[in-house]
Amino acid sequence: MGICLWQDLAKRKSTPPQGDGNEQVDCLIIGGGLTGLMTAYLLQKAGRNTLLLEGNTIGQGASGRNTGKITCQHGLIYHTLLDKSQELALGFYQANKIGKEKLAEIARQEEIDCCLTPQESVLFSQRPQGVEALDQEFEAYQQLGIPGYRTNGITLPFPVTGALVMPDQYSYQPYAFLIGLAQAYERCGGRIWEHTRAIELEGEDPVTVRTQDGRQLTAQWVVVATHFPFYDGGGMYFSRLQPKRSYLTALSCREILPGSYLSIDPDGVSIQYFSGGREPLVLVGGAAHLVGEENPEAYDQLKRWAREHLGTDQLGWAWDAQDLLPPDQLPYIGPLGPGAERILVATGYSKWGNTWGGAAACMLSEFILTGGKRQLSLFQPMRLGSITNLQFVQENFQAAKGYLSGLATPGEDQFPVQPGQGRVVRRNGQKLGGYRDLQGKLHVVELRCPHLGCEVAFNQLEATWDCPCHGSRFSYDGTLLEGPALTHLERPEQGEEPLPPLPDPGK
Ligand SMILES: Cc1cc2nc3c(=O)[nH]c(=O)nc-3n(C[C@H](O)[C@H](O)[C@H](O)COP(=O)(O)OP(=O)(O)OC[C@H]3O[C@@H](n4cnc5c(N)ncnc54)[C@H](O)[C@@H]3O)c2cc1C
Ligand code: FES
Repeated sequence: MGICLWQDLAKRKSTPPQGDGNEQVDCLIIGGGLTGLMTAYLLQKAGRNTLLLEGNTIGQGASGRNTGKITCQHGLIYHTLLDKSQELALGFYQANKIGKEKLAEIARQEEIDCCLTPQESVLFSQRPQGVEALDQEFEAYQQLGIPGYRTNGITLPFPVTGALVMPDQYSYQPYAFLIGLAQAYERCGGRIWEHTRAIELEGEDPVTVRTQDGRQLTAQWVVVATHFPFYDGGGMYFSRLQPKRSYLTALSCREILPGSYLSIDPDGVSIQYFSGGREPLVLVGGAAHLVGEENPEAYDQLKRWAREHLGTDQLGWAWDAQDLLPPDQLPYIGPLGPGAERILVATGYSKWGNTWGGAAACMLSEFILTGGKRQLSLFQPMRLGSITNLQFVQENFQAAKGYLSGLATPGEDQFPVQPGQGRVVRRNGQKLGGYRDLQGKLHVVELRCPHLGCEVAFNQLEATWDCPCHGSRFSYDGTLLEGPALTHLERPEQGEEPLPPLPDPGK
């Protein structure tokens, strides 16, 4: 997998689980991304006894690997929401504003060294058709009282047909923020157990959580902040979250421009500048696709775009991340499933989790501390619209069907021979995945995803096995990288080369 700029610049020592394994706490938070850490921090600060479990190490999910924009400007969203209801559009803006401000407040109060930088957010178009869309979005800003202005004169090194600016937003170094937040959480008595994966959850009052290493924990409240919920609880998240992968490149540049920029055009890019006391860099992101599909050209496409538009192709870092998209563009924040009172969830941020993660942390901690439901009703996970969105369910089902029935890729008859190659292979009626590593060793895995059984597909660009159904990812040797799956891919035989490659027919 590509190396992420933020994780390259900042380092942290991981914290293993403590004690004999059976603990009782007020609030158990599962998942050490922005949502989980910020919720845990707010609850601990308010005097609750909390514990945070992280299956990997903190910040290895999307929160540590994103572009670093902290903004309420989520593309052309407000015009669309206003068509549904003024209350919804306004609630969306206010929730994100609260999340943005709480994040900035914590960074300042806890003196977290994360390059928090005030900046304007800018939507732009390079096509004549984009102008009307920007005008409509600006109209929505005016109706909702959102600060912003339309301009055709923004400073970008390439021509645009128009732009819409939202002032008073931020950028930051997301992974450095998470490290600082983890330290601040621990300073006020919070505990983090890394490499501790939750695998089962049952009961209410208290809720019992079991971990992969055999621990049993009980809590009055559990917050599932694992990106894709590892526990479904009847919420049918598998049918209402679409995993999408995007790519990021960080390239050298001559100067730092003052805003963050997002194209509204089809296949448009996201641009963010970063210095952090070192040579100026510009991050260019995009080339998104559904998880399980492939784009081997992604980094080349972004590099080409940067050369043509920004005059640079000096690539320093290139990496990818994925996020989850709900059908109605609204996240799921609140009680996780039917009848769940004390098991809460936050997910489905549609690639805007820096503000949504902060917003969810504020809403969930307020709910736990005071019972206050301010705004929760707009985003409650069991809302009817998202469950009965038949078109979305059907699309998800169609996509998953091929993968469930094993028809996704026909499979070849030979394991790869070239180092760095992976593919699906059909041997004796069974389909397997094979990857030949750079030292020439063959790694063979079974293709059945341990989550719900879809067939994983090989991602040549990152050398990973990716599940198209709900976004689980595994390294080329089957090691679990990202859930909702809870275990590795099966290996036909553990360890060494399980099956020899077929002889090359030409020899
Ligand atoms: C390319 C890209 C760029 C983006 N850029 C931006 C941006 O500029 N601004 C913005 O606002 N948003 C951005 N986003 C979106 C944002 O990164 C995500 O929405 C957000 O980080 C999700 O946060 P999270 O806390 O829900 O999940 P995560 O950060 O993924 O955290 C979940 C954590 O839970 C852990 N976990 C999973 N299962 C278990 C288990 N069973 N037990 C214990 N732990 C578990 C994982 O290891 C992980 O650490 C971007 C997304 C992408 C893909
Ligand atoms: S992630 Fe759900 S079946 Fe693979």
